[in-house]
Amino acid sequence: MGKQIWKPGNMLYPLPVVLVTVADRAGRANIITVAWAGTVCTNPPMVSISIRPTRYSYPILKETGEFVLNLSTRSLAYATDYCGVRSGRDVDKFEKLGLTKEAASQVGAPMIGESPVNMECKVREIKSLGSHDMFLAEVVAVCADEKYLDADRRFHLEKADPLVYSHGTYFVCGEAVGTFGYSVRKKPLGRKK
Ligand SMILES: Cc1cc2nc3c(=O)[nH]c(=O)nc-3n(C[C@H](O)[C@H](O)[C@H](O)COP(=O)(O)O)c2cc1C
Repeated sequence: MGKQIWKPGNMLYPLPVVLVTVADRAGRANIITVAWAGTVCTNPPMVSISIRPTRYSYPILKETGEFVLNLSTRSLAYATDYCGVRSGRDVDKFEKLGLTKEAASQVGAPMIGESPVNMECKVREIKSLGSHDMFLAEVVAVCADEKYLDADRRFHLEKADPLVYSHGTYFVCGEAVGTFGYSVRKKPLGRKK
């Protein structure tokens, strides 16, 4: 068995799938599911989200220049799919899904209370790429659920069962197989230095 040559396309999977919240000037909130999202810079902390101009959320993002990137989990899987197949033009997704709107500290868009990590973002640049426009944004505040902090104040996102998306299917993260730098460390996984 060999390898096949396929036509060019995006095969960078699995990906984190996130819930992006926005609010228009009148304060109406919406949620859009985004898989074309990424970390692009550590300092200043920056992320990107790529959005099709046809989305209801698009002009809101463009006008306000603000959004919250809410991490998704096993218990938010249904909402994640729903927010990716229904438009805010037709339905109030917060109300329909019974999600909790929490005020963010730096931006007008609300945070999703049920999400373990909310990243408040301010758009710094918009780049038209073709089908999607990429919003490059600075993370101006992070809100993390204390439920996932251990006694040493270490954050365990894995306990929230973070959601990933791969070729049309949602998965939760599985078994840990190493930690940062383990390939060059002498001691095996799980043992502290
Ligand atoms: C798993 C998944 C990932 C998606 N990723 C993106 C994305 O990265 N960019 C985008 O523009 N739309 C993406 N979509 C589609 C939008 O979420 C969808 O069109 C949504 O209904 C738009 O909501 P709105 O009209 O309320 O803004 C995705 C949908 C799903 C189900």
